[in-house]
Amino acid sequence: MAKICLITGASSGMGKATALHYAANDWQVYAIARSADKLVELAKHSKNIKPVSLDVTDSVALASWTAALPATEKFDVVILNAGNCEYVEASDLDLAAFERTFALNVLAVVACTRYLMPFLNKGNKPSLAIVSSMAHFFPFTRSEAYGASKAAVSYFADSLRVDLADTDIHVCLIEPGFIDTPLTRKNDFEMPFLMAPEDAAKRIFDGITAMKSRLRFPRRLSFSLKMLGLLPYNLRNKLAAKMKQQ
Ligand SMILES: NC(=O)c1ccc[n+]([C@@H]2O[C@H](COP(=O)([O-])OP(=O)(O)OC[C@H]3O[C@@H](n4cnc5c(N)ncnc54)[C@H](OP(=O)(O)O)[C@@H]3O)[C@@H](O)[C@H]2O)c1
Repeated sequence: MAKICLITGASSGMGKATALHYAANDWQVYAIARSADKLVELAKHSKNIKPVSLDVTDSVALASWTAALPATEKFDVVILNAGNCEYVEASDLDLAAFERTFALNVLAVVACTRYLMPFLNKGNKPSLAIVSSMAHFFPFTRSEAYGASKAAVSYFADSLRVDLADTDIHVCLIEPGFIDTPLTRKNDFEMPFLMAPEDAAKRIFDGITAMKSRLRFPRRLSFSLKMLGLLPYNLRNKLAAKMKQQ
């Protein structure tokens, strides 16, 4: 029987590439996003893709969608990937931008975990993968909302793994660097080691299949940021300030 994967944020970028990668490997894929038209287009690529138009920040809609799922429907892999990046100005912090960012990047991940957990294929080592970012490894300029939300969701994933250790649920934290998607096409700065979404999708598929606890790619960026993290705190702050001026 075909395995089943559910991916949020599947209408574009990394989520779309990952949905196509799973479908090409004969998985049944629930592809979730708000844009019904994009999902219908996506489903034209593979009969294995089932489009589901849903706003993951709407916990009432999420609860009723899961309540309508047949109790026999079990997901082998759930990838909570939907997310967005909004840059903010420290001189005039936009509270609404923080609320939107945390609603999607953090609270929706918690809500999806809450409502999808009963549908994980327990007894068959299901995976729950949470997409965070390397953004929180270093204090990047104008990233107060995005970086903080990703720090929060990384912590959530690691803490969840501790508390699910006595189950057979595999929690995988995914912390990508720069991937070429609509999200990063808005950036007006140089993005080192920019990776194609198809490469990211392959790493996600291979990493989850290998039951890795954490995926970081591209490795060259994660290594560079790790090295920066070893610098004395004040030196690191000076460097971050210098990078802002460039
Ligand atoms: N690109 C990068 O360099 C990079 C690096 C590190 C981490 N990430 C993370 O990777 C994830 C995917 O990012 P991406 O770069 O692929 O961005 P993207 O191309 O902008 O895709 C974001 C996806 O999230 C969906 N989405 C947004 N709001 C939603 C909502 N309320 N309910 C359901 N779906 C929603 C979007 O679809 P609709 O608009 O149709 O709803 C879209 O499918 C995000 O969590 C991002 O933070 C990206």
